[in-house]
Amino acid sequence: MLRIVVCVSGGGTNLQAILDYMEQGAITNVEVIAVISNNANAKALDRARAKEIPAIVMSPKTYSDRDTYNVAFTEKMTELAPDLVVLAGFLVKIPEQMIERFPNRIVNIHPSLIPSFCGVGYYGLKVHQKVLERGVKVTGATVHFVNEGMDEGPIIAQKAVVVEEGDTPEILQQRVMEQAEWILLPQAIDDIANGRIRLENNKVLRCV
Ligand code: GRF
Repeated sequence: MLRIVVCVSGGGTNLQAILDYMEQGAITNVEVIAVISNNANAKALDRARAKEIPAIVMSPKTYSDRDTYNVAFTEKMTELAPDLVVLAGFLVKIPEQMIERFPNRIVNIHPSLIPSFCGVGYYGLKVHQKVLERGVKVTGATVHFVNEGMDEGPIIAQKAVVVEEGDTPEILQQRVMEQAEWILLPQAIDDIANGRIRLENNKVLRCV
């Protein structure tokens, strides 16, 4: 059984996709042991509570400084001892000590085809605004392992989504979530839980 902690900051639609896949049996061999948010008002926490999953709030704002928060956040994650940490719309930078403690055991969903439209400042709607400004015809989403860089870890899976004329950032974000994020993240978790992927030379390979 793969024990996972899901980190969230907002609406929790990616968390809900994971929970729905589990309920439908499309994800097997996984247990969500806790959901952690930096935002006490995150709707994602209500989605966890609805499934009686421990919903934990750890906000940097309630700590004297970021270093103190990073220590406390890493200590809490160590105490929970998940097999995998899943960042699902989580907007806080992962502390380096947590990445060291959980090497290639933290995955993130990013709403673009990395290495395009990623890195510092590229999150949420901003990603889709930049996609539309640039005029690209195809965008999508990427699930990747988290390393010390920003959106630079080994890529697990990607899915393309067509940009349509008249798209606004909000319309495009919804299409990328529906057609890519809410499919890729649950599938990646199921693949990891059932031993279908492995890392070789920092590249993700599929085990047949
Ligand atoms: C969305 O912008 C999504 O693309 C990104 O995080 C944001 C919120 O996702 N991954 P969620 O609804 O909180 O899962």
